Order: sequence, then C-alpha cells, then structure tokens
Amino acid sequence: MKVEGSIKKFYQYSFPMQTILVTCNNEQGNTNIITIAWHTPISIKPPLYGVSIAPSRYSHDLIMKNKEFVVNFVPYILVEKAHFCGKHSGRSTDKIEETKLTLIPAKKTKVPIIKECYAHLECKMVQSLTIGDHTLFVGEVIAVQATENIFKNNLLMINKTQPLYYVGGDSYTTTDGTTKKEF
Ligand SMILES: Cc1cc2nc3c(=O)[nH]c(=O)nc-3n(C[C@H](O)[C@H](O)[C@H](O)COP(=O)(O)O)c2cc1C
Repeated sequence: MKVEGSIKKFYQYSFPMQTILVTCNNEQGNTNIITIAWHTPISIKPPLYGVSIAPSRYSHDLIMKNKEFVVNFVPYILVEKAHFCGKHSGRSTDKIEETKLTLIPAKKTKVPIIKECYAHLECKMVQSLTIGDHTLFVGEVIAVQATENIFKNNLLMINKTQPLYYVGGDSYTTTDGTTKKEF
C-alpha cells in the first residue's frame, strides 16, 4: 500500500544526499564556504560538475562574479562545521574564522581547498542556468586532489573515510564503513 507524498517537499524523497562544502572567493580574494546537498557530476568529456545554489545565497553572487569554485568532499567527522556553514551566511559571518577549517592553495583555481576534506574538484564555471528558484552552476573540473591513501583505484575506501550525508531537516548520517556488495 502507498500513501500520498508531498509535491511541495518532493526533494526530500531523494535524501539522504552526500553533502559537500563549496569554497568560493569574493573580489578581494577572501574565501567563503557554503554547504551543498544538491550537486552532481554532469559530463565525463568534458569533465563537468554541477552545483545548485539559490540566488539568495552570498556564494551565488561570488560564483557568478568570480566564475570559480571548489567542491570539497566532507568526512562525517566535520558534521558540526558543515552544519554551521549551512546555517550562516558569509555576508555577515567569517565561516573560516568561526569553523577553524584550514584553507590551502589549490593547484589551478585561485579559490583554495579545505585541508580537512578528503577530495577536491577545482572548477572553472562554464555555464550558469537559473531555473525555478535555483541556479545550476556548471563547472569544468580543471584539477583534482585527494588525501593520500584513502582512494584505491580512484574508489573511496569507506572503511577509511565515512562521507557526510544529509537526511533532511537538521539530520545527518554516514555509511557504517562496510561495503554491502562487491562484484
Ligand atoms: C545540509 C545542508 C545542505 C544545503 N544544501 C544547499 C543546496 O544544495 N543549495 C543551496 O542553495 N543551499 C543549500 N543549503 C543552504 C546554504 O548552505 C545556506 O543558506 C548558507 O547559509 C548559505 O551561505 P552563504 O550565504 O554564505 O552562501 C544547505 C544547507 C544545509 C544545512
């Protein structure tokens, strides 16, 4: 038996979603961090990654102007810091100062990566598509870095690092560190 779902909250049926921290710079070169659950790989050739950001976010203005962003994949241990970055705006809060996350230079973008995250996609914005109440920023992935020894054949070893997932509301989860089925 099925019960009627909510069209208004349709997106909640896709949770839990892996949650990332996106870094972006203002015109002075200061870095902001936004927490993002709506994101996806888009194309392999060319390598494109998309992040969906509402126009009301400070980061929306920054990426629109500066045309660069970095996707940082977050270990579950950073859950408090990720939640903080998703509840405060860079317009009024210095999230780097408040979270004490460490910025280190990226390889190709002026936007830095977050040291405590485990993988990083440096993106040059090639297209922005404002549809409905969000903008899909499409970034060409121009450099990739990851923490040593946690990927094997480019696959995350989830017994070493548990990624952060957003369940909706104020709830988060992670994998339990075991692969359920391997072919
Ligand atoms: C777990 C989580 C996931 C979020 N995902 C998104 C998202 O995909 N897109 C978006 O526009 N905002 C998302 N938000 C909201 C922004 O992170 C939040 O509005 C943030 O304060 C914006 O920061 P900024 O104004 O410094 O850019 C999310 C918030 C949380 C807590």
